[in-house]
Amino acid sequence: MENTVCSNADRVSNKFIELFGETPRLFRSPGRINLIGEHTDYNQGFVLPASLDKAVFFAITPRKDNRVILHAVDLDETYEFTLDDLSKPEQTWAYYQLAVVDQLHKNGYSIGGFQTAFGGDIPLGAGMSSSAALECCLMFALNELFGLGLDRMEIVKLAQKSENQYVGVQSGIMDQFASVFGKEESVIRLDCRSLDYEYFPFPMNEYLLVLCDTNVKHSLASSEYNTRRKECEAGVAIFQKYHPDVQSLRDATPAMVEQHREELGDVIYRRCKYVTEEIVRVQEACELLLQGDLASFGAKMYETHDGLQHEYEVSCEELDFLVDQTRSNPEVLGARMMGGGFGGCTINLIKNTAIEAFEQQMKEAYQQAFSRDLPCYRVRIMDGTGEVHRI
Ligand code: GLA
Repeated sequence: MENTVCSNADRVSNKFIELFGETPRLFRSPGRINLIGEHTDYNQGFVLPASLDKAVFFAITPRKDNRVILHAVDLDETYEFTLDDLSKPEQTWAYYQLAVVDQLHKNGYSIGGFQTAFGGDIPLGAGMSSSAALECCLMFALNELFGLGLDRMEIVKLAQKSENQYVGVQSGIMDQFASVFGKEESVIRLDCRSLDYEYFPFPMNEYLLVLCDTNVKHSLASSEYNTRRKECEAGVAIFQKYHPDVQSLRDATPAMVEQHREELGDVIYRRCKYVTEEIVRVQEACELLLQGDLASFGAKMYETHDGLQHEYEVSCEELDFLVDQTRSNPEVLGARMMGGGFGGCTINLIKNTAIEAFEQQMKEAYQQAFSRDLPCYRVRIMDGTGEVHRI
């Protein structure tokens, strides 16, 4: 693992030195997993994410003029702009960096020009939030470089707004939060309403988490994501007529959903049912984690998947196939789709000794069914965003 950090960090900073001939400062932001609590963040519920050993690195120095030079090491492409023109370029990869600069401007933070080379090893489109990692890493770096005085929570909130306003995905706060606040061998329960959070130890000894990457990202992902948000708001508007204190689905209950089933109509009913049940499920799952009852925790993961598949309808054929493959495997305690949906990964809680056989069997089955490779990633939980100090 140390080697992975070093090789990516070296790759990025060596490229920077080659391009700009200066010694840069180096920053790192990881991708994330989420154990349970899906599509609950923008409903002000709970989530249980952790930050990964896969990360993005920015090597960066300030400039004396107002130019910004971005070099994407993994694509070997460069994009330049000046701070007074933040219009959207053809290169969609640059949206995330422009989004960060745009957000700082909108909030009255003044920065100068800068030059950066960035890259890493978070698989793109695999649901590990490479975009949040990019936003958080640059936000954190600019905060340090220009002494903006932002604390970690402010960085998270501004990074989320960058995504919402410039990129145009109405994502919740989970991804940016997990990337910035992650801690080695810990999962974090975040209350997305109060923003209170608590670390739970998650040492991986007897059991491991493995991500199975469908290798697909259906184009529906961002449009359907925004639609789900609207459907939840439509549910809230109906509950508010009878319960004025309901501000979000966090304030609704599964019983309330049943009570208003008819007025909600089939689609909104199923969306609200899933979300209110999932919010309760995260609380119960955390209790199980504290009791060390991983078998019951795993059963909750399956419940989440079933809700996402049938009620929230954000899964897809490939994800359902991968989860179904595990259902009769006694070595797998739990499995479900992870993240926004319509592709990306499943997350699987598996007995340590069974990992090799599991991966092989899953890869074969997936290849046979979809003629595609199935990358599998064994999760390691590492610290969140920070500066990389090198000797
Ligand atoms: C995406 C979003 C998050 C969250 C998840 C679903 O990853 O960026 O804010 O809503 O989907 O839980």
